[in-house]
Amino acid sequence: MKLDERLSLCASFVREKKMVADIGTDHAYLPVYLVKSGKTDFAVAADVRVGPLENAAGNIAENGLSDRIKTVLSDGLDKISPEEADDIVIAGMGGELIARIIEDAPWLKNSEKHLILQPMTRAEELRSYLSRSGFRIISEKACISCKKCYSVMLCEYDGIIRECSDLYRYIGDLVSDESIEAGRYIYIVTEKLKKKIKGFGRDTSEYESLSSIITQLEQITAERNGNNDISIGNI
Ligand SMILES: C[S@@+](CC[C@H](N)C(=O)[O-])C[C@H]1O[C@@H](n2cnc3c(N)ncnc32)[C@H](O)[C@@H]1O
Repeated sequence: MKLDERLSLCASFVREKKMVADIGTDHAYLPVYLVKSGKTDFAVAADVRVGPLENAAGNIAENGLSDRIKTVLSDGLDKISPEEADDIVIAGMGGELIARIIEDAPWLKNSEKHLILQPMTRAEELRSYLSRSGFRIISEKACISCKKCYSVMLCEYDGIIRECSDLYRYIGDLVSDESIEAGRYIYIVTEKLKKKIKGFGRDTSEYESLSSIITQLEQITAERNGNNDISIGNI
């Protein structure tokens, strides 16, 4: 079984032989892959909706893994206990929803737990939440899948409240990732902000702050690529 680049990147952050909970599992591709490949012995596949959970159960059964992957109907981690999850994956949802799910599970404030987070939208809200809530981004990487660019963050709780600069909010640790994928991510964020800024009058504070972030991002892109940006073209 082969995962796409996005779920592969999530899987790469999972630690060997740790118990995994996949929150918002839908088809359960990730836990099935992890258990089948031998990286994980036991996993929980959770979803808030019955339909996706039935998809998950079907796929798990087809792969003969019903005794090693438990399906749970759960809003976030509500029905999952700390004993059954070391590495928690929350992928394919908006950044604000991911933040809410983490906030609702105080037991995640434990440095032994790893969070693997892949926001589809509003990644900046998620980075900001993590910084002010004592979660550290250990590593962040970007990938390109089906011509879309995604960021995946590996996080743990260390209790340190961090200041989150505007630049960090938008590109996180990808600033120090020299891959083409990270370059592409930064370029896409810049273009989105350029569109957004058009909605603000030139003399507003929003315009000023967005304009400053855009300048910083453009500078980063120029420096990364020696003004010859290979990440800008079509993928
Ligand atoms: C787009 S799918 C992502 C599937 C998979 N995680 C992936 O990344 O490919 C989002 C899934 O999250 C589920 N979901 C949304 N809100 C949730 C919540 N609060 N708790 C658990 N699952 C949720 C949805 O029902 C849906 O199946």
